[in-house]
Amino acid sequence: MVGVNGYDRIARFYRVMEWAAFGPHLNRSRVAILSDLPAVSRVLVLGDGDGRLLQRLCLEHPDATIVSVDQSPKMLELQRRRVKAIGGEDRAEWIQCDAIDFSPEPGRFDLLVTAYFLDCFTESQLETNLTKWLAGVRDGGCWYVVEFTRPASKLQRVVADPILWMMHAFFRWQTGLPNRSLVDLNPILGRLPIRMVKRQTRFCGMMTSRIYAKMPLTSSP
Ligand SMILES: C[S@@+](CC[C@H](N)C(=O)[O-])C[C@H]1O[C@@H](n2cnc3c(N)ncnc32)[C@H](O)[C@@H]1O
Repeated sequence: MVGVNGYDRIARFYRVMEWAAFGPHLNRSRVAILSDLPAVSRVLVLGDGDGRLLQRLCLEHPDATIVSVDQSPKMLELQRRRVKAIGGEDRAEWIQCDAIDFSPEPGRFDLLVTAYFLDCFTESQLETNLTKWLAGVRDGGCWYVVEFTRPASKLQRVVADPILWMMHAFFRWQTGLPNRSLVDLNPILGRLPIRMVKRQTRFCGMMTSRIYAKMPLTSSP
């Protein structure tokens, strides 16, 4: 599990580092369109980090049960603490493993949540694993995804490119992240059985929050 030690090391400082780099913007992007999600009963969260989004999910969906998968024991500990603080621990299950080894039961969840998680993987890892993770969502269910993105505007790229480069350098150094630059998710997402329902972009076009609906797979004749 490449990166476990790195994420364990930065877990306690994650929030402060995030604030130093992006002020309130990263957290705002995390919850930007959270309230646009429909009511859900079963939620799968991959790589939640220190539990802030998990806590919000518990509050916004008080009847939902949540499975949270993360490879870092320290991040999971912070998640537990935050969820416990709002009395939600009975509704949550924590699984410590490499998400690459995790195959959700097909169609078990109404909602998949990934926030700043996909950028931990290479393009080929995403090609293989996104299909598998998404299979855990029932047809008609949702995927809430928040990620960095390279802005389309050349002017915005002048600001975004050095920031994205520095971020990758930091995570390569601390967690062994193999990527040197942001993987372009759009071609990969375009091959998945999903339809975008809502999108919001912020912070110079660098942060995108999206809701997708999972479509039934059409079988070829
Ligand atoms: C960059 S942090 C993002 C945390 C949080 N979701 C956020 O919005 O900032 C990535 C999180 O995913 C976890 N993670 C990274 N690679 C993973 C993997 N292969 N399997 C499971 N968890 C992983 C890390 O431990 C960490 O908690």
